[in-house]
Amino acid sequence: MILLTGATGKTGGEAAKALLARGLKPRVLARNADKAAALAAGGAEIIIGDVTDAGIVRKALAGVEKLFLLLPNGEQQLAQEQQVVDLAREAGVRHIVKMSSMESLPDATAPIPQMHWASEQHIRASGLDWTMIRPNFFMQNFLGSARTIKEQKLFSLPMGDGKTAMADTRDIGAVAAEVLAGSGHAGKSYDITGPEVLDFHQAAERFSEVLGTQINYVPADPEVYLSILKRVLPNEWHANAVSTLFGEIALGAVLPHATDTVRQLLGREPIALTQFIRDHIAAFR
Ligand SMILES: NC(=O)c1ccc[n+]([C@@H]2O[C@H](COP(=O)([O-])OP(=O)(O)OC[C@H]3O[C@@H](n4cnc5c(N)ncnc54)[C@H](OP(=O)(O)O)[C@@H]3O)[C@@H](O)[C@H]2O)c1
Repeated sequence: MILLTGATGKTGGEAAKALLARGLKPRVLARNADKAAALAAGGAEIIIGDVTDAGIVRKALAGVEKLFLLLPNGEQQLAQEQQVVDLAREAGVRHIVKMSSMESLPDATAPIPQMHWASEQHIRASGLDWTMIRPNFFMQNFLGSARTIKEQKLFSLPMGDGKTAMADTRDIGAVAAEVLAGSGHAGKSYDITGPEVLDFHQAAERFSEVLGTQINYVPADPEVYLSILKRVLPNEWHANAVSTLFGEIALGAVLPHATDTVRQLLGREPIALTQFIRDHIAAFR
């Protein structure tokens, strides 16, 4: 049995769909039955509950061999992931597949990659088999700029001239599903990117090309952007953590490179930004 957390979200949802498409019937721990309805209709077993509830997590882990652990960023993410890992070991889970990030390194200085690295280390120390899913910046983050792209023909982010090797969450979920359904992935860390390293001016060129109209990238002032984040994100810790990470991208603190993980594991090319834009054209035009 495979258990997924985060399967009503972007990447976990893609991983669950890919498992169902393979004819597998994973179990999903979800907070909201409505959001999990499509997965239930597809054959997934749904356990309703919060990952912070140890009793529910124990129930969800019964008979599970492989666990996909994905939680959203927050001040409590490390503690929550450590608790799930400890409960998984107690429950006899054999293999944990953790959603981490490509910036998660021993010398990471931003809070989110630092947290991912500490969580990875907790899993490595658990004695269980593990696989780390380590994507770069999500293409889906552009959906947060869809309104300004549509209405003002621009997007504004505080990345300066920084570069990423952005990846589509459909590829990330498909890699996670391959790891969960397949074998030979224990002890592997998979850095996942799209096919190209782009700065955000180049990303704007891709939008212009696909949408057939000039789209501009307007580098945002980091302080102004932080004040916007504080209005839209659930708490100050999260806003500061995202702002610090974006600041590091702007500074080129972690130099991105394109990896061949998607090609190696899925036997096809990773989704390009132009394809992502075409697939979400109604949101952007
Ligand atoms: N954004 C990026 O560019 C990027 C790049 C690399 C790595 N990452 C990593 O990706 C992860 C987030 O992935 P995502 O964006 O695919 O996630 P997401 O779309 O934000 O979805 C989060 C999922 O977690 C569930 N969840 C949240 N709190 C929960 C709780 N207390 N108990 C049970 N379930 C809970 C949510 O359920 P509900 O539907 O009920 O809310 C949802 O299914 C983060 O760890 C982040 O560091 C992100």
